[in-house]
Amino acid sequence: MTLLAYEDLSVSLPAMARPILDGVTLRVSAGEVVALVGESGSGKSVTARAALGLFPAGAEVGGRVRVDGTDLVGADAASLRHVRTDRAAMIYQDPRAAVNPVRRVGDFLTEPLRLVHGWSRAQADARAAELLGAVGLPDPARHLNQYPHELSGGMLQRVVIAAALTAEPRLLLCDEPTTALDVSTQAEILAVLGRLQRERGLGLLLITHDIELAAAVSDRIYVMYAGRIVETAPVGELFTSPRHPYTAGLLGSAPPLDGPPVRLTPIPGAPMGLLESAPGCAFAPRCRFAEPGRCDQSPPLLQRHGPAEVACHRTAELAAAPAPSLASRTEDR
Ligand SMILES: Nc1ncnc2c1ncn2[C@@H]1O[C@H](COP(=O)(O)OP(=O)(O)O)[C@@H](O)[C@H]1O
Ligand SMILES: [Mg+2]
Repeated sequence: MTLLAYEDLSVSLPAMARPILDGVTLRVSAGEVVALVGESGSGKSVTARAALGLFPAGAEVGGRVRVDGTDLVGADAASLRHVRTDRAAMIYQDPRAAVNPVRRVGDFLTEPLRLVHGWSRAQADARAAELLGAVGLPDPARHLNQYPHELSGGMLQRVVIAAALTAEPRLLLCDEPTTALDVSTQAEILAVLGRLQRERGLGLLLITHDIELAAAVSDRIYVMYAGRIVETAPVGELFTSPRHPYTAGLLGSAPPLDGPPVRLTPIPGAPMGLLESAPGCAFAPRCRFAEPGRCDQSPPLLQRHGPAEVACHRTAELAAAPAPSLASRTEDR
């Protein structure tokens, strides 16, 4: 069952040369982990926030964003409240920014239950303790009495995850949930998220700039470039046979999570800012396969190629060409 569905979502600010998001179509089903990957500034956070009905001030919004059937584009206050309190929850990069530094962890967890959902203090306290246990904080009674500064970043992110689960959402939106944490804590937090997702059958949208991390934990990946989805495929397929040159570039420039070191090849050039626009493929200026007179003329549309959907004028030729092809990442290195 589809929990989250973006249909041709576009978000534009009047003063900018190109839209922040341009025709984004993306789906997350119940029980599914979907990753959205792209460089900084590509539009990932704007996409995530749209799932709570949050759009940049003054933005013109087109298309649909449905959470469990409720469309959030142009939604009334009651529909927004329903989705934000009962259906979807967001976890951000920096747990310290999510909590009030002068309130105890227990208050952070119980206040929404008491004030929004009308629970008694005893009910809310019991639920908070249970949730802290669920995110692997072994001594819930002690942690409920602590202040945020008494907890490490990893412990605090567990608290934030527990808070996101208080209302039993069906959809969890995680925007770079481990980017502010060290590598071993990152692995622990991902393990907690994965376990909760499986146990509770949640739909999970994982937003990250790290394609290796996305590949390690998700079922499907969407790759975003300059506000457009340029490729989507099941994770194994995307990882071994990237079809869009940008996807191949991301894989070739990311250090593997484990295994021996490999030679990395950065993608040349810089991403396109909001003050620039191009009539053709936004990636063409950085693409070693770009064909003048074609790739710079019209934007490629997302089209099905085998198990993937790809927005590249040259996908069919690149798949057929013996060399130089996109190749798999091992050959690429
Ligand atoms: N509220 C806003 N007002 C103006 N520009 C915004 C706003 N939010 C995001 N942007 C711009 O939209 C683009 C995409 O931002 P964002 O979704 O945060 O990127 P990402 O999360 O992929 O790094 C960026 O160029 C950013 O500066
Ligand atoms: Mg972001």
